[in-house]
Amino acid sequence: MKSIRVMSIFGTRPEAIKMAPLVKELAGRAGVESLCCVTAQHRQMLDSVLDIFQIKPQFDLNIMEPRQTLSTITTKCLLGLERVFQEARPDLVLVHGDTSTTFSAALAAFYSQISVGHVEAGLRTYDKYSPFPEEMNRTMVGDLADLHFCPTPANRANLEREGITKGVFLTGNTVIDAMSTTVRPDFRFTTELLNRLDYVGRTVILVTCHRRENYGQPMDNIMTALRRVAEAYPQVELVYPVHLSPVVREAAGKYLAGHERIHLIDPLDVEEMHNLMARCRFVMTDSGGLQEEAPALGKPVLVLRRETERPEAVAAGTARLAGTEEANVFELAAELIESPAAYERMAHAVNPYGDGHACRRIADAVEYRFGLRENPPEPFAVR
Ligand code: UD1
Ligand code: UDP
Repeated sequence: MKSIRVMSIFGTRPEAIKMAPLVKELAGRAGVESLCCVTAQHRQMLDSVLDIFQIKPQFDLNIMEPRQTLSTITTKCLLGLERVFQEARPDLVLVHGDTSTTFSAALAAFYSQISVGHVEAGLRTYDKYSPFPEEMNRTMVGDLADLHFCPTPANRANLEREGITKGVFLTGNTVIDAMSTTVRPDFRFTTELLNRLDYVGRTVILVTCHRRENYGQPMDNIMTALRRVAEAYPQVELVYPVHLSPVVREAAGKYLAGHERIHLIDPLDVEEMHNLMARCRFVMTDSGGLQEEAPALGKPVLVLRRETERPEAVAAGTARLAGTEEANVFELAAELIESPAAYERMAHAVNPYGDGHACRRIADAVEYRFGLRENPPEPFAVR
């Protein structure tokens, strides 16, 4: 007899990657009925993750449309989720991170007076427009949530500063749990180019760039710098799986297409991505998830943003903020390519974001909150 019904709601690729291991963990708990609802704010990029982790959602709002606006995403989620909650009547809704799905799902749950658990809570830049709209999404979810699962001590300290001290658990980031099933030394890529690349003899740089606050001039600057890197260094192979956002695809096509050592490819499935990251020389990205994954694999990261809500890897020395000015992005990449000493300073594996047991802690905390377990989980300790 299951005593509580927990509904995990997500909509985009990164939320799915980070929630998949939690959905599975909850499904294995005797007292928990684990339901999954996707908004499908992303379609193809979400479905690819659902396939890999073999998750079949009970509810699918299927809201994605090309060049969707933030208001469309939010209103479609709110209306769709109201109906889902009426039918499923969960005791707890779990949301992840800071997307429009995350905020809308937390708000919809609040309107239906359902408890909210926020996975990946407490990340902040304290700059309202950067990242946009994610900073406000996660801040507002912080106010709406009853349970807060913080990946790192710094995230917990942010919440404490905002007066949020109840229902806070230090768990580590679930993305590190996900990586324990995806990264394999004998992995063979289905994307043939990735099998052919010489990861030892050449300098393979993995690039991604998609953030809304980088649309326009910052993205133009970044793309120009990337092209300069490929042109200046004949040993460089730049591999860029391009996000399906039409804005991003136009920018990447305009600045980077037609160069024999710049490989613009479609988004990779998560196993291919993690294994490419494990083999590349270093990473240049504005992605949140990649900033957490690359340090765990000992790969230096140049962060293509003006700030980051993930300062832990910068403090550990494996990530550097490159900003969005062409000259700086180029120079930091040039230093990593030219100077073995600069490279070695950054290339050490660190795990400030998790130890692979975040999902167990979150599930334990949920059980504890609903009286199914006597003690709270032990907090994640950074080693
Ligand atoms: C969203 C999140 C961002 C997250 C990113 C992860 C918001 C506001 N932003 O940004 O926090 O970092 O996802 O990738 O929630 N598209 C497709 N197929 C897909 C996915 C996207 O065609 O599978 C195209 C569509 O034209 C869509 C556009 O990409 O309109 C943008 O997608 P959207 O979810 O609105 O925002 P992202 O920029 O992806
Ligand atoms: N990712 C992927 N294929 C790609 C690009 C990214 O599987 O082509 C994974 C990546 O490993 C990470 C997550 O997607 O786990 C990050 O998603 P994204 O960069 O879209 O969003 P963010 O983390 O910035 O919110």
